[in-house]
Amino acid sequence: MATTQTKRLRGKIALITGASRGIGLAIARALADEGCHLLLTARALSSVENIAKQLARRGTRTLPVACDIRDPHAVEALARITKKDFSRVDILINNAGIAHPDLSVAKLPYDIWQEVLATNLTGTFLVTHEILPLMRRGSTIVNNLSIAATRVFPGSSAYNASKHGALGLTNTLREELRPKGIRVIALLPGATDTEIWKTLWPTAPRKKMMSPQTVAKALMAALLLPENSTVESLTIAPSPKPQTITKRKRASKSKRRIRHQARQRRRNLLAQRVSAGPLEAQRPSPEGGILCSRRKPI
Ligand SMILES: NC(=O)c1ccc[n+]([C@@H]2O[C@H](COP(=O)([O-])OP(=O)(O)OC[C@H]3O[C@@H](n4cnc5c(N)ncnc54)[C@H](OP(=O)(O)O)[C@@H]3O)[C@@H](O)[C@H]2O)c1
Repeated sequence: MATTQTKRLRGKIALITGASRGIGLAIARALADEGCHLLLTARALSSVENIAKQLARRGTRTLPVACDIRDPHAVEALARITKKDFSRVDILINNAGIAHPDLSVAKLPYDIWQEVLATNLTGTFLVTHEILPLMRRGSTIVNNLSIAATRVFPGSSAYNASKHGALGLTNTLREELRPKGIRVIALLPGATDTEIWKTLWPTAPRKKMMSPQTVAKALMAALLLPENSTVESLTIAPSPKPQTITKRKRASKSKRRIRHQARQRRRNLLAQRVSAGPLEAQRPSPEGGILCSRRKPI
């Protein structure tokens, strides 16, 4: 948690889409700890109301707003409320997003394709389009994309396409806003333990994933850099736990020992044969290489 001295974002106004759970909620919590005023949005008001109460701190304001980012009217209304209650936005976190079941292009229903594109790509555009007039020099836009914005996963065509498209939007935005002094960060997390996996891969090994708090922590480090510097793209991926590395090292050590013993046995065998008399032909090793020639024992 940020201390009074380190609250460098104190008094900043942050709008977070998809703040009801997962990565959006973790980012909202981290921004609250830094002393930001918060606008928290998700489709259902009830899902952000409680969170707004939890995150309210002395001296900061927290406003829950229902907004389906696929709906241009709802997004317009969000911008109106924001302007009326806060007058500006310093940090916009475009985080709301959905995945879809693992289905090949041939099997993916058109309505799922449309829903994913409408949320992850068009929704990001709509919110940015409406909120941008409320942003001024020194503010920041963060688009939560995914590693699927730069590589593809078979069975996730709509998700991959939406995130690739959103990266194009993000990169364009950065160049358009650079002269205006507005930073644009592309956040590209790898597998993170959130509810999104229930749609994509219900039995995914969650223990191997990052926590949403880790992603939020990395983003906070980028947001806390001086305003004249931008982390343009922030990729963060899970890495194996140190314990797992030790296990792997142990496993590879014992494999090396077994290989060494096998080599030793082959050498002994060859030495016995050579001492018994010259060989007739070159002998291929089990690995397909030549271990020795008949006249050159190893
Ligand atoms: N988890 C991962 O492994 C991972 C990795 C890379 C990137 N991401 C990205 O991170 C973002 C957050 O995902 P998450 O993993 O935290 O998933 P999550 O736990 O399912 O959260 C998704 C959030 O988006 C909101 N949302 C969904 N559709 C919406 C809509 N039409 N309008 C407004 N809000 C909407 C949800 O709220 P309601 O349902 O209440 O509306 C919820 O708050 C997504 O963009 C996702 O693509 C996730």
